[in-house]
Amino acid sequence: MISELQQLEKEALAELAAATLEEQILAVRTKYLGRKGLLTGLLRNIAQVPDTEKPLFGKRCNEVKDILNARIEKALELQSSRKKDEVLQKEKIDVTLPGRFVAYGRIHPVIQVRREICAIFASFGFSVVEGPEVELDYYNFEALNIPKDHPARDMQDTFYIEENIVLRTHTSPVQVRIMEKVKPPVRILSPGRVYRPDSDISHTPMFHQMEGLLVDKGVSLADLKGILTAFLKKVFGDKTTLRFRPSFFPFTEPSAEVDICCVICGGRGCRVCGQSGWLEILGSGMVDPAVFENVGYDPETYSGFAFGLGLERIAMLKYGISDIRLFFENDMRFLKQF
Ligand code: DAH
Repeated sequence: MISELQQLEKEALAELAAATLEEQILAVRTKYLGRKGLLTGLLRNIAQVPDTEKPLFGKRCNEVKDILNARIEKALELQSSRKKDEVLQKEKIDVTLPGRFVAYGRIHPVIQVRREICAIFASFGFSVVEGPEVELDYYNFEALNIPKDHPARDMQDTFYIEENIVLRTHTSPVQVRIMEKVKPPVRILSPGRVYRPDSDISHTPMFHQMEGLLVDKGVSLADLKGILTAFLKKVFGDKTTLRFRPSFFPFTEPSAEVDICCVICGGRGCRVCGQSGWLEILGSGMVDPAVFENVGYDPETYSGFAFGLGLERIAMLKYGISDIRLFFENDMRFLKQF
């Protein structure tokens, strides 16, 4: 029996030495030390051992059991640390590799200009309102004193949805919508997209405008001049010189176009200003009494001024961009510069 025990110990140790996986080690444990294991079996048969040898046999059995348990414990430890090393090796990060590039978005230059202008007028007490892009003919034209078949309609080529529904050609209809809803005093600014079937280096079928309107008792042309001068100096710099040029719009009387001294040549004359030294910036005027009547304001009590400007044009002058179409091509090399 003793020699059987010795043989068993040798075999068990050899099997343990060969076991590398956790399951293999556990299998050895079950095979020798489990309830039906070989060593357990030997111990159970102690009755067949001669009495004189029993104490020694029992002692050896326990020794072997302790040795095996200790070896199994060690093998398991070794195996788990090997497994950890493997994971660490596999998940190793090369911190010297360059990072992955994250593409950041940007605020579009037209939107930047829109925000800047809104902030300036907010500081003058104007609030920002928006109107629909698909607009009734009535608001886009008729209420603004541009009747059907009036030659003034030629000023604005139009996308028609139906006979009486258009894509708005300007942001001016928002004036009417607001005045229909609120009583004076009114101070609003209305930015948004507008549409005209036009496409070349300075026109796109969709572009952005901003409409302004101020109505109260006793508003005069001096107020219009004061506010627009302060506004344009904030956008183009304190030294900017302006010129108010008589013009015509059906919804204002009198009307004026506002020019600034050319930001490219300083007024000497260049390609951008068509050698005139001046750049057309916006249209404006005192609200025509006919428009007030259309919205139910009494033109004897109230007066006001309105203005409209193109945001792309302002952005082009501010940033020195020569082709309006660049704004809508979404080329990051262009957009990244602002
Ligand atoms: N709506 C005009 C346009 O698109 C611009 C304009 C001119 C707006 C004069 C106004 C104004 O409010 O008073 O050409």
